[in-house]
Amino acid sequence: MAATKGFTLWFTGLSGAGKSTLAENISRRLKDSGIGHEVLDGDVVRTNLSKGLGFSRQDRDTNIRRIGFVAELLTRHGIPVLTAAISPYRETRAEVRRKIGEKKFIEVYVQASIEELTRRDVKGLYARALRGEIQNFTGVNDPYEAPEAPEITVNSETETVEQSADRIWDYLVNHKLIVIEDELARV
Ligand code: ADX
Repeated sequence: MAATKGFTLWFTGLSGAGKSTLAENISRRLKDSGIGHEVLDGDVVRTNLSKGLGFSRQDRDTNIRRIGFVAELLTRHGIPVLTAAISPYRETRAEVRRKIGEKKFIEVYVQASIEELTRRDVKGLYARALRGEIQNFTGVNDPYEAPEAPEITVNSETETVEQSADRIWDYLVNHKLIVIEDELARV
């Protein structure tokens, strides 16, 4: 058995840094603990809720505000939400933070250098962006404003997925955002 108060774990970072992989890992842990939750993954949102939006600042902000809107609704009703979108603009992330509330919004900065991401280039997009075939590609020819005070910073170059996920999980437990069985028995 487990309990939760509802929160939004907001992953931010460059494309390919590992946001979705980490969200999936935490999602599996929540599922294993019997905690219902929802994942709002950037790529999935863009094929459904944000279909048709591009990558201008205005479209990205619209995308992020939509994700924030849904995350706030669910969080308000006690459902944990994991979001994984680049969300490159500091002010837009801050706006979502204000809506969801300081105590329930956990910003997770997934760090990885542009050199490493270009080397990995799982989707082949960095190579295309560097050749000038994609305009406004985050980190190559479009800005990414790194968080100044994220609740958690993980680094996919220096840590394994399990190590990063352990630290995120510990944060949730330590801040009583999730309470697991043996601790429930004690209260
Ligand atoms: S966000 O800026 O609006 O938060 P989001 O996370 O939804 O971005 O989408 C990013 C994904 O779209 C990337 O992982 C990549 O696969 C794809 N993509 C296509 N064009 C771009 C671009 N110009 N900049 C960044 N990502 C892009």
